[in-house]
Amino acid sequence: MLMKVDNLKKEFKTGEVVTKVLHGLSFSIEEGEFVSIMGPSGSGKSTLMHILGMLDRASSGHYAFLGREVTTLNDNELASMRNEKIGFVFQSFNLLPRTTVLDNVKLPLTYSKNKKEISKRAKKILESVGLGHRLRYYTNQISGGEKQRVAIARALVNNPSVIFADEPTGNLDSKSGIQIMDILQKLNDSGNTIILVTHETFTAEYAKRIIKIKDGRIEEDEPVLNHRQALDGDMLK
Ligand SMILES: Nc1ncnc2c1ncn2[C@@H]1O[C@H](COP(=O)(O)OP(=O)(O)OP(=O)(O)O)[C@@H](O)[C@H]1O
Ligand SMILES: [Mg+2]
Repeated sequence: MLMKVDNLKKEFKTGEVVTKVLHGLSFSIEEGEFVSIMGPSGSGKSTLMHILGMLDRASSGHYAFLGREVTTLNDNELASMRNEKIGFVFQSFNLLPRTTVLDNVKLPLTYSKNKKEISKRAKKILESVGLGHRLRYYTNQISGGEKQRVAIARALVNNPSVIFADEPTGNLDSKSGIQIMDILQKLNDSGNTIILVTHETFTAEYAKRIIKIKDGRIEEDEPVLNHRQALDGDMLK
C-alpha cells in the first residue's frame, strides 16, 4: 500500500473565519495506480493534493505513506520525505525563469555529488519526454507544452514513488494536452504511480480509477472500465 488516509479533515483559519474544506476522507492508493481526482471548482481537490503531496498538513485524521504515519513527522522529516518520494506537476508549470531547460531538470539533484551523473540523468529524462533538442533553451524560449514536459522531467528526475499532477493540461491547447496525458499514461504503464487532479472527464479517463469529490466529501470512487489509451508514438520508450 502506497497511501492510506483515514477520516482526513482540513480547515483553514483566517483570523476569525474558519473554512472547513475536507470533511473526513478515507481511501487508499496502491503502488502503480493511476487515479484521477475530479470535482467542481472549490470542492477541495488541490487542498487534498497538497496534503497527500506533503506540501500542507491535515487538520485531523491519519495519513500513512509507505506505512509511515505522516501526521507525526516534523517539518524537516516531511520536507525530506517529500523531496525523495514525490514529484509535482502544476497547471502553471512553475519552472525557474532565466534558466535553461537542462538546469531546471537538474535542480532537484543538486544535493547528489557526481556532477556528470546528474547531467547524464537529466538529459536522459529530457530525451524521454521528447526534449533532447531543447536542453540549452531558456524556459521563456519554449512553448507551453514543452514547458509542461520540462516540468514532468523535473518531477521524474529523483525517481519518486508517486507523481502528482494538478490540472497539468489546464493551460495547454488540446494537442499539447493530449501529449502530456500520453506521457503520464506511458509513465504509469512502466510502473509509476500517478495521481491526477482534473475537472475534465476526457482527461480523467486516462486513469484507471476516478475519485469524485464534492464539497469536501467523496461522492464516488470507481474504476474506469475502458480507460483511454495513449496514442502510439515514440515520445517515451
Ligand atoms: N489557504 C486557504 N485559506 C482559506 N481557504 C482556503 C485556502 N486554500 C483553499 N481554501 C478554500 O478551500 C476550498 C477548496 O479549495 P481548493 O483549491 O482545494 O479547490 P479545488 O477543488 O482545487 O478548485 P479548482 O478546481 O478551482 O482548482 C475553496 O473554497 C478555497 O477558498
Ligand atoms: Mg485546484
